[in-house]
Amino acid sequence: MNNLCVVILAAGRGTRMYSDIPKVLHTIGDKPMLTHVIDTAMSLQPNVISTVVGYGRELVIETVKRPVTWIEQTEQLGTGHAVQCALPTLPENGVTLILYGDVPLINKESLQSLINTACECKLAVLTDIVDNPTGYGRILRCDKQKIIGIVEEKDANSQQKQIQEINTGIIAADNKYLAKWLKELTNDNAQQEYYLTDIIALAVKDGIEVKSVAVPEHYLVAGVNNKLQLAELTRIYQQNLAKELMLSGVTLNDPLRFDLRGTLKHGKDVIIDVDTVFEGECTVGNRVKIGAFCVLKNVTIADDVEIKPFSHLENCTVGANSQVGPFARLRPDAVLAENTHIGNFVEIKKSFIGNGSKVNHLTYIGDTQIGQNTNIGAGTVTCNYDGVNKFKTEIGDEVRIGSGTLLVAPVKVGNRATTGAGSVITKNCPAEKLTISRVRQNTIDNWVRPEKTNK
Ligand code: UD1
Ligand code: MG
Repeated sequence: MNNLCVVILAAGRGTRMYSDIPKVLHTIGDKPMLTHVIDTAMSLQPNVISTVVGYGRELVIETVKRPVTWIEQTEQLGTGHAVQCALPTLPENGVTLILYGDVPLINKESLQSLINTACECKLAVLTDIVDNPTGYGRILRCDKQKIIGIVEEKDANSQQKQIQEINTGIIAADNKYLAKWLKELTNDNAQQEYYLTDIIALAVKDGIEVKSVAVPEHYLVAGVNNKLQLAELTRIYQQNLAKELMLSGVTLNDPLRFDLRGTLKHGKDVIIDVDTVFEGECTVGNRVKIGAFCVLKNVTIADDVEIKPFSHLENCTVGANSQVGPFARLRPDAVLAENTHIGNFVEIKKSFIGNGSKVNHLTYIGDTQIGQNTNIGAGTVTCNYDGVNKFKTEIGDEVRIGSGTLLVAPVKVGNRATTGAGSVITKNCPAEKLTISRVRQNTIDNWVRPEKTNK
């Protein structure tokens, strides 16, 4: 639609979150609730998105980082007042959609049908029918079932409180009329607030028919006021993501124990075991198997890779046909070529591991370049840091680093070199040769073992 504007209300503090963080910054799947709403609004391609902020305004703007028009509402005088604050950003003609920063899972389809309805009739309200309507504004209808107004919980009489059809808060209205009705609002009500919902009765007074659009599922319009509701919506969000992944071919061993806090691109026949968390932007190739209890953030994993349980991978790349874990830690800029093996209790940071090379046990590799088909023995440490500066280690092809080798960087190990177990390597090791630096073993033949003396 050409003339669409969106206003998002996000000025409230969210007292019941018991948090110093503004409510709309609390996250669902690692993304602030307000960002979810803005992204959904953006998918409608409106001309303007005006976001009304108040409590924690600077933090909200800085965290959300989306190209919207920020409007400040210094005092929270009600939803009607909040929209009034955004009025100067709305053109005279067109339709405005009003969203809430704490109703994070609203979807494009429901909004599109609300907008279409508002285009026909000037004012449309998104409604729902719920078992327990407590706290919501109730939709008032005349005998002929036409909408005549909305009454807030605090202003409702006992009969009105029985009404189960509720105002979700989300409405769409013709700009000209919206501007007119907002000017007519008063705060003559139980909460002494300027209620946006009062525009319904004002429209009816102007002879405008107000139409409703019902949502197919309640979670789409569920608001978050406390941490319990945040957790409930997070689960629904996660289950929806899990469903999408399974329907596109991913095997999730238990979709209830799965968390995607970002995006996951995947090939075919991917298997993901329980309690694995994906964060940021992750890509996994064909036939990738990810074990239980792994955390993967911004990773690129090629075909036929197995990540075994309890591994933690961040900002790294794993080449095809490699094996990682269990209990492996790949830190930022760890790049594994194809056919590599990274075993248990191995930490790799800012290093390249060449094709076919293995680092299987209890090892730290940092700021290191390793060639092809090299084997790093158990307990090897690249000593890359002198407490002030970092230094590089270069290890060639087909090298055998003996167990317990300390490689004091900067240092180079040539192709097909071997280091003796327990060596402290401080100088370059020439290719093809064995380099060893350890005290020679010595057995004292006539040594007498001390025994306890009886006093
Ligand atoms: C509102 C509706 C109610 C509806 C309910 C749905 C009104 C008067 N009532 O009530 O009919 O059933 O939502 O959840 O609109 N906000 C501002 N500035 C303000 C006041 C509010 O930005 O001055 C923002 C809040 O941050 C929040 C949203 O508007 O995101 C809704 O405000 P809230 O006070 O929660 O309204 P409700 O009483 O829940
Ligand atoms: Mg509310």
